[in-house]
Amino acid sequence: MANQLLKGKKGIITGALDENSIAWKIALRAKEEGAEFILSNAPVALRMGKINELAEQCQTIVVPADATKVEDWEALYDQAQDKLGGKLDFLLHSIGMSPNVRKGREYGDLKYEWFLQSLDISALSFHKMLQVAEKKEVLNEWASVVALSYIAAQRAFASYSDMAQAKAVLESIARSYGERYGRLNKVRVNTVSQSPTKTTAGTGIDGFDAFFAYAESLSPLGNASAEDCANFVIALFSDLTRMVTMQNLFHDGGFSSTGISDDIVARMKP
Ligand SMILES: NC(=O)c1ccc[n+]([C@@H]2O[C@H](COP(=O)([O-])OP(=O)(O)OC[C@H]3O[C@@H](n4cnc5c(N)ncnc54)[C@H](O)[C@@H]3O)[C@@H](O)[C@H]2O)c1
Repeated sequence: MANQLLKGKKGIITGALDENSIAWKIALRAKEEGAEFILSNAPVALRMGKINELAEQCQTIVVPADATKVEDWEALYDQAQDKLGGKLDFLLHSIGMSPNVRKGREYGDLKYEWFLQSLDISALSFHKMLQVAEKKEVLNEWASVVALSYIAAQRAFASYSDMAQAKAVLESIARSYGERYGRLNKVRVNTVSQSPTKTTAGTGIDGFDAFFAYAESLSPLGNASAEDCANFVIALFSDLTRMVTMQNLFHDGGFSSTGISDDIVARMKP
């Protein structure tokens, strides 16, 4: 299915941990479409994950960067420009983690120190990605920046806990920075609100299997897979979507617009 949609484009893909990661699939599709990019993840993920395998497949390098640290973004952009030889055309933010979720804290018993970490890792890091890019002037005109979100930003999903607030902030940053960067340099900034997907971050949510099955049954098209998400993100990185910015785009098989399905009605019958 390769159409060289990203031929000549250079970028950075964060957040690929293992072959289930959404960013992993995006990297493989970006390579197929002719892009040149570097991979990045947190130093700890480099030790635990399989990102070096992906780097080999994509004939690129991995640069460690903790997304909460401004100096790591600065060094990452320097290395990306050195390796790729010029300014960048796309950035993927595929980063999320909540210590409260990971350690099973109830929403009524959150540790605030961890709440701040959830916000820093999963949302403020997106602002840092954009602000450092702007200050260092690393993006070409019409560059495209995408972050991954979830519908818990708009609706209550009990076990999503403080990640719901993190995603609401993430989507808000896409609007505010999209407005600024569009005017300054014609840079596009969007979030993609993805279906539940079986990855390390996804399955860390309590009751994930039920979430997944419910969404599958409610969505007219079923859940969108990580591969489908990769295709959509490639379209957003490409020149085919040049006028799309400041949006939160639901990529969820219709879940967000559906009230109830026949399947769920049948299951709920006494
Ligand atoms: N899996 C789902 O159901 C689902 C649904 C909607 C949105 N998303 C979002 O997609 C994105 C990618 O998650 P995924 O599902 O592919 O899971 P994943 O666990 O494969 O990816 C999450 C990544 O975040 C990285 N990360 C965590 N802390 C970091 C830090 N301080 N600095 C840099 N990187 C850090 C991890 O190392 C990991 O690679 C996340 O933003 C997630 O919230 C996931």
